[in-house]
Amino acid sequence: MPAESLVQRDAKVIWHPDTQMLSEPAPIPIVKGEGALLIDEQGQAYIDADASWWVNIIGHGHPLVAEKIAEQARRLEHCIFACLTHEPAVQLAEQLLELLPGSCTRIFYSDDGSTSVEVALKMAIQYWHNQGMPRLKILALEGGYHGDTFGAMSVGAKSVFTAPFEPYLFEVTYLPLPKPGMPFPLAEESLQEYAAFIFEPLIQGAGGMRIYDAGALDDWLSICRQHHVLLIADEVMTGFYRTGKMFACEYLHQKPDIICLSKALTGGTLPLGVTACTEKIFKAFLSQDKRKAFLHGHSYTANPLACSAALASLDILRTEAYQQRIVQIIHHHQLFLERLREYPCFQHPRQIGTIAAFEVLDEASYTSPLRDELYLFYLRHGVLMRPLGNTIYLMPPYCITDAQLAQIYEATYALGEWLLQRT
Ligand SMILES: Cc1ncc(COP(=O)(O)O)c(C=O)c1O
Repeated sequence: MPAESLVQRDAKVIWHPDTQMLSEPAPIPIVKGEGALLIDEQGQAYIDADASWWVNIIGHGHPLVAEKIAEQARRLEHCIFACLTHEPAVQLAEQLLELLPGSCTRIFYSDDGSTSVEVALKMAIQYWHNQGMPRLKILALEGGYHGDTFGAMSVGAKSVFTAPFEPYLFEVTYLPLPKPGMPFPLAEESLQEYAAFIFEPLIQGAGGMRIYDAGALDDWLSICRQHHVLLIADEVMTGFYRTGKMFACEYLHQKPDIICLSKALTGGTLPLGVTACTEKIFKAFLSQDKRKAFLHGHSYTANPLACSAALASLDILRTEAYQQRIVQIIHHHQLFLERLREYPCFQHPRQIGTIAAFEVLDEASYTSPLRDELYLFYLRHGVLMRPLGNTIYLMPPYCITDAQLAQIYEATYALGEWLLQRT
């Protein structure tokens, strides 16, 4: 009997994320990653146009990161972080605190984007609790996405993703996306009841790559700050030059009290979450009373391999070559979006930093059948791209070559022609 293929074995034992296992196409068996490419068993290469769920900024199989991880694995692969410490965790915290906008002084490690958000919310709530002045409410923006765990789902938009769980999610007050001149939608006195305001700065990612105005956000943040509402910036997607600057909050005057990081933090190699906070917040947990400690921790907190990968990725990211590459991608995206305007089937071309997005004319819905057609169309053109409903976006690793970028752009123009023929 011939040996079963990887896909056949997968079909028997694996349950894939965000996937309707009954009807969606079988997964592609990937055997290798090389720069911006993912290569399957047959040797077919796909350009990783969404950076493997927005994590990969330095490309697959980067030799320096691989070396650093291997070196660290030989020295210390992991240890409990509640009562121990190690060099990679401390060094990474030192570097991040230097780089982060505002005045964060402490780094709390966790595992991924969702846990970094859970930590941020719990920190904010307990900050008030510890001071005997509980503030029970949370503010968030309509249309946001902060992860798939319960706290993160609670503060995100309600959708097909959250529908079965809604009775279990806590109540949140949503503000519309701020626009210039839009008055703050709540009575300011009511802000005294709010522990925190969580937002994705400048662009909502999973909500459809919705870019919004930094000045308008700043105005609202300033009102919240006057009433001591803690500002939580979820930079899980926007961090590490996605918006053109190292962090999106660099575009804001009001700096956050808490910042969540993950995804590109390790260059896309290993899972790691970070929640940074200011000294004011940290100090509210210092007490002779142990119950005031932040009693939260995950088994793999501050994993040394992940911290080493993050340090290596930061080094690579700050090289002249990468800085130039980021500028070039921004420039290429601009020209590409200009050209998209020639296609009536493409709408709302928009860009922030290295992210370019547009809609394909359709009823906007994540479950739209068009979404799967778009996915397969790009795949046939050697591009791995997972549209958000009818929203197509490019968020490639920064190591992508000009030729690879051109291949994605050409695939998109071909898509435009194909859609025109269908109408
Ligand atoms: C802004 C934002 N926050 C949090 C998350 C959750 O991150 P993770 O998928 O690593 O749990 C995401 C994931 O897309 C995100 O975009």
